[in-house]
Amino acid sequence: MTANSHKYSKILLSWYSENGRELPWRSTRDPYKIWLSEIILQQTRVEQGMAYYHAFTENYQDVQALAEAPQEEVLKTWQGLGYYSRARNLHATAKEVWENRGGRFPSTAKELLQLKGVGPYTAAAIASIAFDEDVPVIDGNVYRWITRLFGIEAPIDQKEGQKAVGEIVNQLLPKGRAADFNQAMMDFGSQVCSPKNTQCATCPFKEHCVAFDKDLVQILPIKAKKTKVQTVYLHYYVIEVDGQVLLKQRPNKGIWAGLYDFPLIESEQAWDIDKSMVELENLFNISIEQIEDVSEEMKHLLSHRKMLARFYRVKPSEKPKSNPQLSEWVKVKDVHKKPLPKLIENYWQTR
Ligand code: ADE
Repeated sequence: MTANSHKYSKILLSWYSENGRELPWRSTRDPYKIWLSEIILQQTRVEQGMAYYHAFTENYQDVQALAEAPQEEVLKTWQGLGYYSRARNLHATAKEVWENRGGRFPSTAKELLQLKGVGPYTAAAIASIAFDEDVPVIDGNVYRWITRLFGIEAPIDQKEGQKAVGEIVNQLLPKGRAADFNQAMMDFGSQVCSPKNTQCATCPFKEHCVAFDKDLVQILPIKAKKTKVQTVYLHYYVIEVDGQVLLKQRPNKGIWAGLYDFPLIESEQAWDIDKSMVELENLFNISIEQIEDVSEEMKHLLSHRKMLARFYRVKPSEKPKSNPQLSEWVKVKDVHKKPLPKLIENYWQTR
């Protein structure tokens, strides 16, 4: 293995020098920008992440600008990426770096881990790309490439598989070249050694790959546990009175933290319209005069949850007074200015 490590890293780096993507965060060594790119890429693919990277770096040219921006504005720039606690962590970390660390990001993976929203992968990515620390990044791309190349059948969601892959990557990492090597693994795993449409025919590791030799490419990597997906029905009520609509801000924890949506009831079973209206009337202690529109069912997928949302646009007999959810009336024309979850934004555009 050790003899081959040198060969394998050479093959990968030479593939990268010819096929690596030119990405905006690859032409900088600014830890702030590299950190931004890595936080965005925790949440989305490179193609989509690019627009967000440009938006953030244009709106906030340095860590001070981001630290001093109002939170709602930061959430708005993040809008569409989902998982808003990441945006809040991003903002908190900018403040931490600006206010308590003299505006300088820590330069080792170990210290970077102390920052909110920075886990082992992101810490290793920033430390290697911005500061040349010799630490490997290990993510799904890397697990896929290594388990296939070496024919590792131990499950990668368990210690044994993780340890095996970690040891190999540590050996492969060429000292002093971690920035390129890590980004090469990311690109290789997404462009050649991909989950589907794997490009084995043109792969530079074809002669060495155990999975290719034993016809295990579609089998590896192995996971012991399949994630169970829970279905939840979301009943959204779009209550419009006198050109205003009732919005509510979501709590500071959990999905879509701090963003705005409509009054909502969740259920584990599907409801028909009658049931949905009765529940709404009970929630606000009002009566519904007219149902103006019922949307299609809109799907929103998270790793563990399948959310099926329906929006009911209703006219109440009177403006709801007391309401149990923290809410505010917003002019219909101003709704799009609020930071909204993608699901709500999509609905609002088709309304
Ligand atoms: N995914 C996470 N970080 C990345 C990077 N720096 N380049 C490409 N893809 C990535």
